[in-house]
Amino acid sequence: MTNKTVPDCEIKDPSLAAQGKARIEWADRDMPVLKLIRDRFEKEKPLKGLRLSCCAHVTTETANLARTLQAGGADCLIIASNPLSTQDDAAAALVKEYGMRVFAIKGEDIPTYHKHIEIALDHKPQLIIDDGSDLVVTLVTKRQAQIADVIGSTEETTTGITRLIAMHKDNQLPFPAVAVNDAQTKHMFDNRYGTGQSTLDGIIRATNRLLAGRNVVVVGYGWCGKGTAMRARGMGSNVIVCEVDPVKAIEAVMDGFRVMPMVEAAALGDVFITVTGNRHVIDGAHFKSMKDGAIICNSGHFDLELNLEALAKDSSSRREVRQYMEEFTLKSGNRINVLAEGRLVNLSCAEGHPASVMDMSFANQALALEYLVKNKADLTPGLHRLPAFVDQEIAQLKLNSLGVKIDKLTPEMIEYMSSWQVGT
Ligand code: ADE
Repeated sequence: MTNKTVPDCEIKDPSLAAQGKARIEWADRDMPVLKLIRDRFEKEKPLKGLRLSCCAHVTTETANLARTLQAGGADCLIIASNPLSTQDDAAAALVKEYGMRVFAIKGEDIPTYHKHIEIALDHKPQLIIDDGSDLVVTLVTKRQAQIADVIGSTEETTTGITRLIAMHKDNQLPFPAVAVNDAQTKHMFDNRYGTGQSTLDGIIRATNRLLAGRNVVVVGYGWCGKGTAMRARGMGSNVIVCEVDPVKAIEAVMDGFRVMPMVEAAALGDVFITVTGNRHVIDGAHFKSMKDGAIICNSGHFDLELNLEALAKDSSSRREVRQYMEEFTLKSGNRINVLAEGRLVNLSCAEGHPASVMDMSFANQALALEYLVKNKADLTPGLHRLPAFVDQEIAQLKLNSLGVKIDKLTPEMIEYMSSWQVGT
């Protein structure tokens, strides 16, 4: 049942719906695993009648996830998980073509972003999809009376899971939350190949600069950093990696990258990309030692990786030189170019991860919601992973869709793998 106390939508321009629908259908052609789930959900209705609030980047790929949840019977309301990532045509199509309630406008200000979170909670969700944990944190801190309604939530990102772990430690996570990011078919593909490609796409669209021969500094060598460094190298850049974890740092060394602390890299880089999930990893002192014309951007979830307050304080002027690119002139005269206000460059300046990887991420999301509903009697409050067989199933379906065949274990192999007697 639709909750009538919640307004219908807040989007930029309903007339963009036809364009949005065409692009959603285009994305859907590269999301075959999600389509199979949608077809099954259509028949089985595993989410029938459940109120669902989805806080996500409102893209064509998310639209196909939302269609899947709607097919499963959910009463779905969608809000943006970032003020700059919304694709206004996808939002318009979701409202006008698919009859969903959407509250998302590209460039919305922070009060509007928070207003949309409140609207998502006014929907009285029984299920929550979150991307960064803002919705869950707001629910738990401001809407305690609604906690009892919640069957569970799912979390898309590394950053969101870090927050949920901290909440759980403080005994503040009162329902089961599925760590979708921890599925292998999510982080090994979305974070690595998705972030890798879309981050460079964002930088190229925003700057139109050649990357070949340039020093690109990648800060953070998690799955997102690995993908970003790999793709920057593919464009012919000289890649430098900064890391705080010795294991990840040695991995970067053996992957063939130069590794050094940020204070040294600052003076060498032409382009800087942060993907750490941490705060102020490029700080005031670093900006001061950068070359004139350095380009800096962030592809981590929140806009706090670059200390832009310090940069503004040390600057004598600032101006927009291209869309989503602001030039700060330091008191020394050097110019630093910041992309997308330090927000996710891949979703702000480009279109986020391509559909083919979101296919697996969002297959995990849909199956995680089904898992929460089916197992609600047994799941305890706290973080949960999807069972390993779900990864196997999603990977197999993806291989099938690509026409890739693989070997099967023979009975002899199976017997050997479960024995211990045979050795040298
Ligand atoms: N996160 C990264 N890329 C995305 C996309 N295309 N859609 C939704 N969420 C995303």
